[in-house]
Amino acid sequence: MTRCPVIPVLVIPDLSLARPIAQALVAGGLTTLEVTLRTECALDAIREMSKVEGAHVGAGTVLNGDDLARAVDAGSQFIVSPGLTPEVAAAAQRHDVPLLPGVANAGDIMRGLDLGLSRFKFFPAMANGGLPALKALAAVFGKARFCPTGGITEDNASAWLAEPAVTCVGGSWLTAGPFDAAAIEARARNAAKLAG
Ligand code: 3PG
Repeated sequence: MTRCPVIPVLVIPDLSLARPIAQALVAGGLTTLEVTLRTECALDAIREMSKVEGAHVGAGTVLNGDDLARAVDAGSQFIVSPGLTPEVAAAAQRHDVPLLPGVANAGDIMRGLDLGLSRFKFFPAMANGGLPALKALAAVFGKARFCPTGGITEDNASAWLAEPAVTCVGGSWLTAGPFDAAAIEARARNAAKLAG
């Protein structure tokens, strides 16, 4: 979370795009890459992207222990989940891999703290009340740090990053639209300059 202010949330439709996308993002200064397990080629995309120098590749949309085991086997260096379940938390511990679980309310955060976690993905950030909701939660849980994801854009990322409890943000805008390496690199360059 502290490596870069923005984690690109990637849905890779075609394995041949995996390396070029990772190269463009890393060239722009974003080195922490979340590959969502939402496409057939996601695990192979993690393998391909991990070969790009400087890339720190993890898996997102990890829904259970089996997903997590497959993601680790593919070389994932961290795990992101849209929610927090005891099964995913236990699997992360078993595989000794950093976990960023999704939380949406105080109960989720309390369950995470009970499991020894203190870093959370606030998801879905905008639909779940936006920055006012996160500020209210952060005021209660002083030690928790967040990566808001879901509805974060190039335009609103700075406002989120200005909140002390926000360490980084996640978003899909870096690679939105048809593949265009120069555009991805330019967006990554802008995002990498944001204050984390
Ligand atoms: C995620 O997959 O974590 C979010 O759905 C990404 O949300 P975005 O597309 O609004 O950035």
